[in-house]
Amino acid sequence: MENTNSQNVLLQASQLVRRWGGLVAVNNVSIELRRGEIHAVIGTNGAGKSTLINLLSGEIPVSSGVINILGSDVTTWSQPKRAKSGIGRSYQRNTIFPDLSVFENCRLAAQAHDQKAWLIWQDADQCDYSVAKANAVIEKTGLKEAKDRIAGALSHGQKRQLEVAMCLATDPVILLLDEPLAGMGADETERMLSFLNELKPNHAILLVEHDMDAVFRIADRITVMVNGSVIACGTPAEVKADRNVQIAYLGAE
Ligand SMILES: Nc1ncnc2c1ncn2[C@@H]1O[C@H](COP(=O)(O)OP(=O)(O)OP(=O)(O)O)[C@@H](O)[C@H]1O
Ligand SMILES: [Mg+2]
Repeated sequence: MENTNSQNVLLQASQLVRRWGGLVAVNNVSIELRRGEIHAVIGTNGAGKSTLINLLSGEIPVSSGVINILGSDVTTWSQPKRAKSGIGRSYQRNTIFPDLSVFENCRLAAQAHDQKAWLIWQDADQCDYSVAKANAVIEKTGLKEAKDRIAGALSHGQKRQLEVAMCLATDPVILLLDEPLAGMGADETERMLSFLNELKPNHAILLVEHDMDAVFRIADRITVMVNGSVIACGTPAEVKADRNVQIAYLGAE
């Protein structure tokens, strides 16, 4: 179902460019993320998907272009300031603390967002907000059974779930997820997809993913990148029918 209410546009990026020396990793990319939608970004290795996420989250500065979040121009804002304004991300590579428990990882993510950095190593029981938040995201992401396990000992799929849980612990309304399904088995994938569907009504979700079956099932909108540029953007049906996409990406002759 098309959602055109402009109030639901939580993030709008226009003509983003990011250069690495002579390489244009992101070339004039515009993208809109709406509440109630999963917007997938697909493309071959090196297409610029993670760089795009890094630009939106504020991890790296744009070479040019404009990023608006919830009506504010955040182009020059730092990553922590953008996180405060409601943007959360998960990483392509695990960023969990492997020696800490699932609970501690989530608690630290919540605590860091709450920005009382001097309390970060305080006894967990003394910090009500982050304890409650950690418990809530653990419950939500289906990690309850694994709550007290050491994160480094989790299965690959559970580590990806934990990444998403840590992202949610920062209370984002915009979620930028970099390959959350990578390496997951069929059951774990199904669980994550139904979880993303649950999150959808109250969040705008950007999903970078190589699992095409999953993308075409779950995405409301798909942007296709090739060598830093967008070659198509539309509904899954529109993208599937796009001749340029078929030639450049989906393997048509
Ligand atoms: N820190 C960096 N310094 C120099 N070049 C970089 C840097 N980060 C990314 N690049 C280059 O930018 C291009 C886009 O990389 P990016 O990681 O965004 O691709 P991707 O679409 O996420 O690929 P993948 O599907 O493999 O994760 C690549 O050519 C990559 O080598
Ligand atoms: Mg990537």
